[in-house]
Amino acid sequence: MFKSLFATKPVEPTGHVDAGEPFEGSLEGEVTLKRTLTGTQLILLGIGAVIGAGIFVLTGQAAAEYAGPAVMLSFVFAGIACAFAGLCYAEFAAMLPVSGSAYSYSYATLGEGVAWFIGWCLVLEYLFAASTVAVGWSGYLNAFLHNFDLALPAALASAPYTYEASTAQFVHTGALINLPAVLIIAAVSGVGYVGITQSAFVNSIIVAIKVTVILLFIAFGMQFVDPANWQPFIPPSEGGTKYGMDGVIRASAVVFFAYIGFDAVSTAAGEAKNPQRDMPIGILGSLVICTLLYIAMSAVLTGMVDFHLLGTAEPVSTALDYYPSLGWLQTLVELAAIAGLSSVILVMLMAQPRIFYSMSQDGLMPKLFGKVHPKFHTPYVGTIIVGVLAAILAGLLPVGFLGDIVSMGTLLAFATVSIGVLILRFTRPNLPRPFRVPLAIVICPLGFASCLYLFWQPFKEHWHLLMGWIAIGAVIYALYGYRHSKLRHGTR
Ligand code: ALA
Repeated sequence: MFKSLFATKPVEPTGHVDAGEPFEGSLEGEVTLKRTLTGTQLILLGIGAVIGAGIFVLTGQAAAEYAGPAVMLSFVFAGIACAFAGLCYAEFAAMLPVSGSAYSYSYATLGEGVAWFIGWCLVLEYLFAASTVAVGWSGYLNAFLHNFDLALPAALASAPYTYEASTAQFVHTGALINLPAVLIIAAVSGVGYVGITQSAFVNSIIVAIKVTVILLFIAFGMQFVDPANWQPFIPPSEGGTKYGMDGVIRASAVVFFAYIGFDAVSTAAGEAKNPQRDMPIGILGSLVICTLLYIAMSAVLTGMVDFHLLGTAEPVSTALDYYPSLGWLQTLVELAAIAGLSSVILVMLMAQPRIFYSMSQDGLMPKLFGKVHPKFHTPYVGTIIVGVLAAILAGLLPVGFLGDIVSMGTLLAFATVSIGVLILRFTRPNLPRPFRVPLAIVICPLGFASCLYLFWQPFKEHWHLLMGWIAIGAVIYALYGYRHSKLRHGTR
């Protein structure tokens, strides 16, 4: 058993893949996913997944509670860790243009057991992230409706459960359900069901709106920046992770959430027209654009008002509260956040069924996750199941708790991908690599170490939850995946 846990799926050099060609491993005449996405659409997909609750919701809290104006530095640190991982994702995604992302890469390098483990962690990244952002979306929607006295009562728009880290228990809050969060998941799942082209089209429009509004915020907000608000840049420590350099590091772990999603581009590799060329463009292009926007936006935000004032659920809107002449921009920011968070949910809800699709192709998940819709060419059964699970989580749990779980799962996946690239360089040095991580011997270990560092330190209080999650995954693997693995049964 031990040996078969480390069995790797053979990596075959992938010939040039092109639009219209069948999907990985498909049989003659089989209904498969469709290759339609261009490089630009992939960048937009990345930006669509990345810019969301992180910048619109969590930045303010990171500045007010941990880093002060140095939240800019936190964005740089988290961005560097993501850049290392992004380079590794780019090498893998160009070499193995399949939809399973980190799951497939681990299968090829570290063995079936690790692949299952990463696939299971990716559920935390994609499925849980969709729920997290849906809860953030619900908050922005309610704040917007409040302007017209239409806000839903808290019992119908907030989490019925919260997590008490000190007692490690879920506590009932008295609320019934976060209804808007459930409804947005249902609506977005509908788009994901209908098709990748439609999803990419909807995504492109939303990305255009949110990037335009962010640029407007930077351009107009810049005029109201008072450099005195940036002094002291790193507020003196008040103990623990409240300010000082420790606070800056803690804030890096918080704003790491803002970067999650660039890797979702790799799950569309099976639907890209020219994945070998366009995967690195999509992954790294979206990462660079988002990093620049984040640093500029956090600089303007902390320059406009004293950072202590930013610890709200809508920090961008809060900063604009202090400048009545920018009232028009405030409405736009709220609308852009509502639209922008929807596109994050969309990409996450597209990514998760595609991971399950790959796992099902390998026999590690039930066959129904591999079912592709005859007309829409989407993994529709997986899309429905994922939508229902995400809606349940979004309807019941609070944003902070969900966000921490997402970051933990993602950091583990990023660390594994970083080390996997290096391993494959040694085990299969001659595989064609359309994109290569420069100085891999340095960059890959740095990616591994920086992701594990961000995972280890700030999330201590949730480790046991992650262990529980991994234990559940291990049981499912033992009962299902291990028995049905096509690799071990020689049917693949
Ligand atoms: N990066 C995504 C967001 O900030 C998950 O919403």
